[in-house]
Amino acid sequence: MNIVVIGTSYVGLVQGACLARLGHSVLCVDIDESKVARLREGVVPFFEPDLEEIVRSEMQAGRLSFTSKITEAVMIQPAVIFLAVGTPQSENGAADLQYLKAAARDIVAAVQSTALVVIKSTVPPGTSKKVKEWLGSDFEVASNPEFLREGKAVSDFFNPDRIVIGTTSDRAEQLLRDVYSGIFTQVFVMSPESAELTKYAANTFLASRLSLINEVANIADHVGANIKDVEAALGADPRIGNQFLRAGAGFGGSCFPKDVLALDHAAREHGYAPKLIAPIMEVNLGQTERFLQKIYNRFDNIEGRKFSVWGLAFNAGTDDVRESPALRIIEKLLERGAELCVFDPYAMASGRLVLGDKVTFAPSMMDALIGTDALLVLTEWEEFLYAPWNTIAELLSERVIFDGKNFLPHKDLRDVGFEVFGIGLN
Ligand SMILES: NC(=O)c1ccc[n+]([C@@H]2O[C@H](COP(=O)([O-])OP(=O)(O)OC[C@H]3O[C@@H](n4cnc5c(N)ncnc54)[C@H](O)[C@@H]3O)[C@@H](O)[C@H]2O)c1
Repeated sequence: MNIVVIGTSYVGLVQGACLARLGHSVLCVDIDESKVARLREGVVPFFEPDLEEIVRSEMQAGRLSFTSKITEAVMIQPAVIFLAVGTPQSENGAADLQYLKAAARDIVAAVQSTALVVIKSTVPPGTSKKVKEWLGSDFEVASNPEFLREGKAVSDFFNPDRIVIGTTSDRAEQLLRDVYSGIFTQVFVMSPESAELTKYAANTFLASRLSLINEVANIADHVGANIKDVEAALGADPRIGNQFLRAGAGFGGSCFPKDVLALDHAAREHGYAPKLIAPIMEVNLGQTERFLQKIYNRFDNIEGRKFSVWGLAFNAGTDDVRESPALRIIEKLLERGAELCVFDPYAMASGRLVLGDKVTFAPSMMDALIGTDALLVLTEWEEFLYAPWNTIAELLSERVIFDGKNFLPHKDLRDVGFEVFGIGLN
């Protein structure tokens, strides 16, 4: 099948490259010409395991190509066009649909209306109808939300938990079933509004679990309990489950914060004021503050203190630093006059774009420690877990570690003589 994917970032590029691997002919379009130029050379402009290999081999096989000009789409007469452009948070918390609208206008100008337009971007319920209005009545529009996890996106594409198709049209449903015919999983077909709500609900549920376990960890801090023990026993209950059940210094990423707020906003626009959704974000922002408070309590004067920071990415497995709690923590410490030496195995370039010369970027995790008082670990990269702690104890001027992800081996670290701070760990 001939397919066009508009937007070639974490979602669009994975979608385009993996659809090519399934045997489709895919043209990926992005308005960012420098991104397209790099992709044409087989370079993926961000880190996502296994993606570059697929991009290169599918380009070589002639099934995947890139352009910055949507007008080229007309040449391949696509049966399906996926919209995978960004839907960032606008000032009032609503999803900003300007990129989606611009892309819809581009489609009308360049493509025959026989193509099915499918929204992959995360959008508020009702957006499929809006896109249809923007496109004009000839185009059919369906929703097909994306559930991938950055860092595991390729494997999530080929082994998804489910595929959600939002349409009331038999033709659209069949086209999308054909698109994914090489993938074996449950397919849920529903109205576009239900599909759009499913995506927001999924992210809001996951975010709420994190905020809830963080609240329990905060209580653990006060009552002298250990959140790791609580998490283990809590997660053994199959009604609760053990995923997304780890307390820390708050969640981040390009999706959860904006999607939780956008769902709250969308509900209010439709006349319903949710009571549980906004507090998910309040708890999350407070969580970063509580973590910082542990640093302020340990070192009463932050001005002039030198800290090493391991981890900038919002999660291990990605170089994405959007809304990363690590960056929130770094900015707050800089405001108080701390000097920071940072390292991340994959997110140095993206971190540099945000932090510039406000911090020192170390060439390795061990280099980051030299001349610093204490270590902050803010992303759960596996290599941090197996660091040479005896050597590190010699490098830090004070043997203090703040673990923002609660994932280091705290007992082992204490045995080596470290003071270790996490969340809810007594
Ligand atoms: N990143 C994730 O983990 C993830 C997971 C599931 C869903 N989503 C959703 O998928 C959507 C895309 O997310 P992302 O992180 O891949 O996006 P992003 O914001 O990182 O990038 C969007 C891309 O679209 C391009 N673009 C914008 N307007 C365009 C146009 N008119 N024509 C062509 N290209 C255009 C931009 O240049 C950019 O490369 C968002 O709605 C997001 O919420 C993201």
